[in-house]
Amino acid sequence: MPEYRVGHGLDAHRLVPGRALVIGGVTVPDSPRGADAHSDGDVLLHALSDALLSCFGLGDIGVLFPPSDPSFAGLDSRHIVQSVVEKVRGVEPGAAVVNVAAVVTLDAPKLGPLREQVSAAVAQLMAVPVADVGVTFKTSEGLAPDHVQASVTMLVRL
Ligand code: C5P
Ligand code: MG
Repeated sequence: MPEYRVGHGLDAHRLVPGRALVIGGVTVPDSPRGADAHSDGDVLLHALSDALLSCFGLGDIGVLFPPSDPSFAGLDSRHIVQSVVEKVRGVEPGAAVVNVAAVVTLDAPKLGPLREQVSAAVAQLMAVPVADVGVTFKTSEGLAPDHVQASVTMLVRL
């Protein structure tokens, strides 16, 4: 009987002018604002990384990549995901992601046209078929217009 773990991660950043908006490793074209962050501020990949770490009680990405460390400034969050995958591989070599369910909350711009690109990027990072990645986009209905947020749940088979 296979053993399974559920992981969950959440991340949010403030939107500010003059920054690129990066979601799932995809730069959103023509966004007037991006995440105010030490790294590239990719909330989806941060939540994804924390979800994977949470399966194995490995803390969170703030411990692995402290915002106080200047060498992580502007860091491409795909590198964060890759180091988390390697860390998990060291602890549980047989672990394999079964599926990923992500929700991104952003009032504007519309992300729908990027769904396939974002899903494909997440699928590649987690080594799963794209059909096993769900990416949902939601507005905050104007309640958090200066906010970009992502929540990620995943199932991992040991
Ligand atoms: O949040 P709400 O339910 O009003 O979202 C309506 C639709 O807008 C959904 O189909 C969602 O995929 C899309 N959406 C989007 N980009 C966003 C937020 C929502 O494409 N930034
Ligand atoms: Mg973050």
